[in-house]
Amino acid sequence: MIDSLTLGEIKIGFIGCGNMSSAIIKGMVQAKYDPKNISVSNRSVEKLHSIQKELNIGITQNNSEICENALVIVIAVKPQMFATVCEPLRNIDFSDKLIISIAAGVKTSQISAFLQHESAVIRAMPNTPSVISEGATGLFANTKCNQQQKDIAEKIFQSVGKTAWVKDEDQINTVTAIAGSAPAYIYLFMQAMVDQAVSLGFNAKDARTLITQSFIGTAKLAQFKSDIQLDDLRQAVTSPGGTTFEAIQSFKNNNFSEIVKEAVNAAYNRGVSLGEAGEEGKPL
Ligand SMILES: NC(=O)c1ccc[n+]([C@@H]2O[C@H](COP(=O)([O-])OP(=O)(O)OC[C@H]3O[C@@H](n4cnc5c(N)ncnc54)[C@H](OP(=O)(O)O)[C@@H]3O)[C@@H](O)[C@H]2O)c1
Repeated sequence: MIDSLTLGEIKIGFIGCGNMSSAIIKGMVQAKYDPKNISVSNRSVEKLHSIQKELNIGITQNNSEICENALVIVIAVKPQMFATVCEPLRNIDFSDKLIISIAAGVKTSQISAFLQHESAVIRAMPNTPSVISEGATGLFANTKCNQQQKDIAEKIFQSVGKTAWVKDEDQINTVTAIAGSAPAYIYLFMQAMVDQAVSLGFNAKDARTLITQSFIGTAKLAQFKSDIQLDDLRQAVTSPGGTTFEAIQSFKNNNFSEIVKEAVNAAYNRGVSLGEAGEEGKPL
């Protein structure tokens, strides 16, 4: 039983050794999780050899072996592969095990149906900065999960960034819209600023350096001053009649908040329709 073990002793197995699971495994090892308690399976063998060489974790091409030997199983394959991966696992007794899925759009009820087992399932929605342990992950647990299983999932994703729980599974679509997809919005914003700097005669490389650092610095400051409203932080650096004030007025005149609202709603609605239509498998 998971309850009787401390986190460091729990065997965790990953199915799929792609970008996201490699990032999570690396984060766990960096967070001093014992590599001997981590194993991963993958369809092709090259990624397995490479991660074993780097981190000294267990590897296999046999997904059933992962499920039999681990108490926590993280399924990290593309959504369209999910049902195919689960089918050969149906004979395994998942009663004491925790399944964590990071696949976008695949619901906990679908996972139980694919495995033909009413298992403890947690859905996690990480984002790409997890690769450098600066990820943001939303988590949802079905009613079969106990507190310790939730703690384990939280610890795993805290090893690659920050986490937040949602109570309704539908809210995972909000996580996708505000965090999963957010790196792309931020790249879009940064690129638009770089482009404008260049058109003002500025060097593109230096513009990128200053703009990315401004995002990092502002985000860290907002985290550091988490007790102050974001609007108040903004107003504190917006003197009436100054340069920032002019830019903010321009954003407001062009309905910046409305643009963001519509974009977030579009991502949210797409997440809902992917889940409902069962056409998971499209990129976030
Ligand atoms: N990337 C993101 O930003 C992000 C964010 C949130 C959630 N996610 C979710 O994370 C999941 C993985 O995404 P990813 O970007 O890491 O994809 P990925 O790099 O393509 O990794 C998927 C891995 O699954 C392996 N695989 C496929 N079929 C398998 C099978 N039958 N048995 C074992 N392994 C199998 C693939 O092996 P091969 O090497 O043989 O192809 C590949 O290494 C997706 O469901 C996605 O929705 C991703």
